[in-house]
Amino acid sequence: MKTSLRIGDVVVSPPVLSAPMAGYTNYAYRELLRRLGGAGLIATEMVSARAFVHMGARGLGEPERLWGVQDEPRPLAVQIWDNCPETLEELAAKLAHDFKASVVDLNFGCPAPAIAKRSASGSYLLRDPEKVGELVGRVAKACAPTPATAKIRLGLTADTINAVDVAQAVEGAGGAAITVHGRTARQMYSGVADWDEIAKVKSALRAIPLIGNGDIKTAAQAVERLEKYPVDGIMIGRAGLDRPWLFREIAQLLRGETPDPEPTLLEQRNLLLEHFQLVLKRFGTELGVTLMRRFAVCYSKGRPGGRNFRDKISRVSSEREFLDVVANEFVVDLPET
Ligand SMILES: Cc1cc2nc3c(=O)[nH]c(=O)nc-3n(C[C@H](O)[C@H](O)[C@H](O)COP(=O)(O)O)c2cc1C
Repeated sequence: MKTSLRIGDVVVSPPVLSAPMAGYTNYAYRELLRRLGGAGLIATEMVSARAFVHMGARGLGEPERLWGVQDEPRPLAVQIWDNCPETLEELAAKLAHDFKASVVDLNFGCPAPAIAKRSASGSYLLRDPEKVGELVGRVAKACAPTPATAKIRLGLTADTINAVDVAQAVEGAGGAAITVHGRTARQMYSGVADWDEIAKVKSALRAIPLIGNGDIKTAAQAVERLEKYPVDGIMIGRAGLDRPWLFREIAQLLRGETPDPEPTLLEQRNLLLEHFQLVLKRFGTELGVTLMRRFAVCYSKGRPGGRNFRDKISRVSSEREFLDVVANEFVVDLPET
């Protein structure tokens, strides 16, 4: 059984990573994951290098996205995006040397129009493995000895899958690991992640770890992907929002232990409230309530009465309202009859 992987000198144990997710993987979520345990490496949201470097404090809140990063426990990966080598290397050096990030990850997977179309960054760059290599090389040099990594998709479209070429460019340029999300950019989040295509990347790599990503929903699936596919590690995004204790469950399974039982609905409600307090600490009440609505929606997915809860929680606008809806509408265990 795979129990750890190395990204440069950083040991990732277990080899289960929490995915970067813009708007979600902020300080509060990362802190919650740490309290629950089980994630071998936690990532920030992606940070726009251009906004950070050129706009500074005025920059669309980019420095804000690094809130907490300096003081958080390690290991911690910070993800950045852009297409300009100078801008990326300037931020990468800052992250490595001032912020002491454990890993600097480059985003070559984002298909959102604001990034891929209007900024010619993220998944747009998959069309040009050479350019990817150049960017990785510049960043790797700028942040050494802190490792630089890359996160990609399979390619732009089903007809132009080129993850092998991109991965070789990443490794050749000094990248220390590569994560492959098993969808094309065109798919956005539709269809299913193709793990056979992810697996093809492994034989093209000489030494660096391959991390597979996409559609892992349960601890059993996580272990199955690690066993069945030639990946060194796995990364999980959305399922960790719905069930943040998933990482702990996976870690227990990988250690050969019987996982803790699924938290009761009451325990899930308490976790949601703990998460809320962390969000308030980070963002203040006004923004915190607005932001927490989207997390609360995740907690209610697939739970009895979830639709009613989502309907109500999506409209709260104060801390009091939030707490009332959680107290009155969040599903709790039905008393035994
Ligand atoms: C709301 C949301 C935000 C995301 N933001 C990022 C991001 O900032 N950087 C990134 O590389 N991928 C981002 N992703 C993609 C995830 O990291 C991951 O690759 C994808 O969700 C597939 O994994 P999953 O099926 O485990 O969720 C985002 C995904 C979602 C759903």
